[in-house]
Amino acid sequence: MSRSAHPAGPRHADVLPEGHYSAPPADLNALDAKVWAQTVTRDEHGVVTVGGVDVKALAEEHGTPAYVLDESDFRARARAWRTAFGTDADVFYAGKAFLSRAVVRWLHEEGLNLDVCSGGELATALSAGMPADRIALHGNNKSTQEIERAIRAGVGRIVLDSFQEIVRVAHIAQSLGKRQRVQIRITVGVEAHTHEFIATAHEDQKFGIPLAGGQAAEAVRRALKLDGLELIGIHSHIGSQIFDMSGFEVAAHRVVGLLKAIRDEHGVELPEIDLGGGLGIAYTSADDPREPHEIAKALTEIVTRECEAARLRTPRISVEPGRAIVGPTAFTLYEVGTVKPLDGLRTYVSVDGGMSDNIRTALYDAEYSVALVSRTSEAAPMLSRVVGKHCESGDIVVKDAFLPGDLAPGDLIAVPATGAYCRSMASNYNHVPRPPVVVVADGASRVIVRRETEEDLLRLDVG
Ligand code: LLP
Repeated sequence: MSRSAHPAGPRHADVLPEGHYSAPPADLNALDAKVWAQTVTRDEHGVVTVGGVDVKALAEEHGTPAYVLDESDFRARARAWRTAFGTDADVFYAGKAFLSRAVVRWLHEEGLNLDVCSGGELATALSAGMPADRIALHGNNKSTQEIERAIRAGVGRIVLDSFQEIVRVAHIAQSLGKRQRVQIRITVGVEAHTHEFIATAHEDQKFGIPLAGGQAAEAVRRALKLDGLELIGIHSHIGSQIFDMSGFEVAAHRVVGLLKAIRDEHGVELPEIDLGGGLGIAYTSADDPREPHEIAKALTEIVTRECEAARLRTPRISVEPGRAIVGPTAFTLYEVGTVKPLDGLRTYVSVDGGMSDNIRTALYDAEYSVALVSRTSEAAPMLSRVVGKHCESGDIVVKDAFLPGDLAPGDLIAVPATGAYCRSMASNYNHVPRPPVVVVADGASRVIVRRETEEDLLRLDVG
């Protein structure tokens, strides 16, 4: 369909239908620096560029859809976390947000450690040369093989998640003639979600060992008795996409309370605490995330204050940011396939990907932004819903957003802040191959995870 023949559709209904959106932005061509990777800008022709490469060239060379990741932004964010926490603390990047061998090398070079939560993530980390002593192994149901492999490799810590696992890890370590450094993950009764948190006595979820009812204290008692384990600390992770620091404050207070009880009962001062990840990022202009230095200052102050009050030596702190490092560094580049205006409602814009490359909207009702990136437009804003190509009506990428009213098939649009939990949660639903991860830096692009092919899909089908 030619651009001029494209029907006007519901641009500005007098009464807008129900949705997440507020008013259309003043300038649809503007790119809010909060939600886009650091080097993203528009060139003199109005085409968006990242790392000095324009999106039309990226689409031509690598195809769409594609995750496009800004390497200098990733490194800058990793370094900002490292610098903010200094040498008295450790930053473990949470690999579940997005992991590949290139990412492991960048983290290594920037002085970060790595949190892995499966054998596959561990294999990726080791194969890219991350020193094992800088790796932490997580998971609520690690297999015997995963535990054995981690201990043999010499991982810096295993985070114990249950009473069975305390015994299991101790036995495996002992049978290998090793003493494994471990932390115990506890649940402190804090549930944090985005702008609010709830402090409760109990937590109804699968991770960790509850502080409530003395279970965490009992876990410590058992771990301290086992020769195969060296208990180095307590771990707490309270949630994800959090903006409000008060949840961390309550968590730190409760973790330090346990350290004090351990000192009083066993005469042992555990040297480390880990406060997990969970710091929020901006998906839309409405989000206001904290900077790493503010987070580091707040967490260090809370722990120091609580330890002074409890007359404990301040333990070494570690944190595990995933989303806050990789999330903002990538966008997903799509080509518009069809544009379908529904009178009095909104315009459905179908792209060549969807819920297989970004499940977060369908799964969590997540909000995203979107922009036309292959050109600028002065057309009036059009209330749009960006949807994928899957056989499912819940296949929505961006629920409600304004795009220019002259949007047409062949235009490139991009959804920012898709670096975390998009490629790592991607699926092959409808046998749609997963998109590549393309890295841009210094005016050049390269593929770090290649596009899946139909041959890849068929290779697994051995029936
Ligand atoms: N540490 C532990 C023990 C975790 O369980 C997690 C995330 C992190 C660190 C990293 O959290 P982050 O800084 O990335 O928020 N798929 C969901 C998020 C699941 C997070 C699971 N654990 C999403 O797309 O929002």
